[in-house]
Amino acid sequence: MTIESQAVASRLSRSAIFLVATLNEGDDSLNAVRAMCGDLAGFVRAVGFRDLDGGLSCIMGFGSEAWDRLFGGARPKELHPFREIRGRYHAPATPGDVLFHIRARSMDLCFELAMQIMARLGKAVTIVDETHGFKFFDQRDMVGFVDGTENPVGQESIDAVLIGDEDPAFAGGSYVIVQKYLHDLDGWNALPVERQEGIIGRRKLSDIELEDAVKPSSAHNALTSITDEDGNELKIVRDNMPFGEIGKGAFGTYFIGYSRSPSRIERMLQNMFIGDPPGNYDRLLDFSRAMTGSLFFVPPATFLGSAGPAAQSSAAPASRKAG
Ligand code: HEM
Repeated sequence: MTIESQAVASRLSRSAIFLVATLNEGDDSLNAVRAMCGDLAGFVRAVGFRDLDGGLSCIMGFGSEAWDRLFGGARPKELHPFREIRGRYHAPATPGDVLFHIRARSMDLCFELAMQIMARLGKAVTIVDETHGFKFFDQRDMVGFVDGTENPVGQESIDAVLIGDEDPAFAGGSYVIVQKYLHDLDGWNALPVERQEGIIGRRKLSDIELEDAVKPSSAHNALTSITDEDGNELKIVRDNMPFGEIGKGAFGTYFIGYSRSPSRIERMLQNMFIGDPPGNYDRLLDFSRAMTGSLFFVPPATFLGSAGPAAQSSAAPASRKAG
């Protein structure tokens, strides 16, 4: 049987809705979510077909406890709850059983799909965070820098995000970590641009990376560049989105990172929040506060497609090896 992955390595989009929900009590709730797993592809097809150039996609992920409640049996090797970090700053762990990452060229598609999904799920889940993200001029984030440049593309992105032989029963799946950051934009904008560039590690206008000779070791892109013991870069795929509410003075970046192993993103977070070496932390955090933090497993689309209520007992992924 061929394993088909969810759209984790797809191109970055202009609009997104991030829905993080918790499962409500009762078998009806579990069955409704399992049924949604099977229905999701059809929902995306139906809404997406109404705008052929819209590029609509939706990724569904599951938190560690929710995985056991929904599917039982075998579990992805590295699935665990998000681990909070208390370093120079705090990266909190917040509730999240199910993630919907909805992307499209325009918000109408994202909004319609989110409405349809929630109409079907009804009282089975409670949305604990809903963020509507947009891309800002030249793919900039709320702090004014181009964001996403060093994302791997093509085969490199597939290699970065899809589980392979290291966990054969879950090959084609992925892990995703989300964190919602709020910025002190007044404080950030009061910094000279050169100082901001040292914090990010790239030029603000041109997006060119700072030369090693001038890049601080605490630069965001220095602390998040990690390698394995052989010196190979360990990449992740990010699709950060600005969001905000002008009237409330709330301006933020929704961080979302996909990886074949959550340990990559966790190492980057350690470097940012504790520092590498400890104390040499990410100064972006002087102006950005993590409000949420959750980790999800993203099963292959093939698994979702066969995870309806009736198929629950046979939905144990151990029977779902590639080939
Ligand atoms: C406040 C939230 C964040 C903002 C505004 C932000 C912004 C940026 C910007 C502007 C860049 C440079 C352009 C690019 O290559 O994309 C970048 C790079 C990067 N960021 Fe972030 N980021 C945030 C949080 C995070 C987090 C939480 C992680 C991982 C845990 C992360 C991982 C990375 C990685 C891996 C790179 C590429 C490094 C390289 O290879 O050069 N970022 N980020």
